[in-house]
Amino acid sequence: MISVKAPGKLFIAGEYAVLEQNCPAVLVALNRYVFVTIKKSPNETGSIYSKQYSQDYLHWVRHGDKIIIDNRDNPFAFILSAIQYAEKYVHERGIRLAVYDLHVNSNLDSADGKKYGLGSSAAVTVATVKAILQFYQLPASRDLLFKIAAIAHYSVQQNGSLGDVAASVYGGWLAYQTFDKKWLQQELQVKDFIQVVTEAWPGLKIQSLTPPKGMQLLIGWTQKPASTSQLVDESNAQKAVLQYSYAKFLLNSRQCVLRMIAGFAKGDIKLIQKQIRVNRLILQKFGQLNHIAVEIPRLHQLIQIAEKHHGAAKTSGAGGGDCGIVIGSAATEVNALKQEWRANGILPLDFQVHPVQQTVVTESEN
Ligand code: PMV
Ligand code: MG
Repeated sequence: MISVKAPGKLFIAGEYAVLEQNCPAVLVALNRYVFVTIKKSPNETGSIYSKQYSQDYLHWVRHGDKIIIDNRDNPFAFILSAIQYAEKYVHERGIRLAVYDLHVNSNLDSADGKKYGLGSSAAVTVATVKAILQFYQLPASRDLLFKIAAIAHYSVQQNGSLGDVAASVYGGWLAYQTFDKKWLQQELQVKDFIQVVTEAWPGLKIQSLTPPKGMQLLIGWTQKPASTSQLVDESNAQKAVLQYSYAKFLLNSRQCVLRMIAGFAKGDIKLIQKQIRVNRLILQKFGQLNHIAVEIPRLHQLIQIAEKHHGAAKTSGAGGGDCGIVIGSAATEVNALKQEWRANGILPLDFQVHPVQQTVVTESEN
């Protein structure tokens, strides 16, 4: 039996802008995982079982006499897509395909099944691709794993920067810039899959960041789940109308995140904190312009409490719920901050950073 795991993530800065090329984001991988095990089936029938997601519900809309299922919040859609694309790679390598049983387990969501918003769809996609490649004894570099998982994820969600997939593959703290999606679609139509996942992708940049000594990451969970894909759809709907202010938003976000990355390079916690605060304001304004609720009242409160206790705080990811993050230093009153969060219905999540992954094939454990 082969067992692999892939971590969840949090966005630290650069959200929404990172959907466009040449706009960096900072992310961090966390030590909460999706676990996948795979073994050869004893007979001709394979199985796919997902412990947490078996009783999930689906969203759908009516298009005339048709029911259209929104698969983007359905983890099974990501598992199936990951299998399909990983097998496409395996098949093109000339390997005979087999029948297997695949089990998915996760500690990315709370014990009662509520989503923290830590990127479970990305982690489940990465873990599944990883398991399939190991099952067929194919070595997988991080780049290969990222590319197969990114294609599988994008083909289900149809939007997203894929920064969450990168964090799950590479681990640690990352600066991430997305690739040219139109180019990729064209490549997939005209070239062999194997060629597409082994060539360089225009625009894609993934760089490990070293956190300064003494820098702390605190995570607060609002206990309110949010749908990233729906928020991204809503923000896209305004893009054409907001031409000038959208371009300005991209420019401001880019400048802010580049300064933050420089803060990592210099080991300057204060500079990172300053840019967290700048990015918070940029995202607040973006939410207002687009009429989307990024910093909802519970996140606003989370941030106010953190700032009161000398932490630099902002929403994480698409906002609208899920988590907020705080970059703290020695000056941050961590205990008092957490206590006040708890008193206000915000749960501190005591997760650690998942370390940088040098090689992926060594992840297997029995
Ligand atoms: O809400 P999260 O943690 O899934 O983050 C979404 C970040 C966005 O930039 C809004 C979308 C994306 O895919 O990058
Ligand atoms: Mg979210």
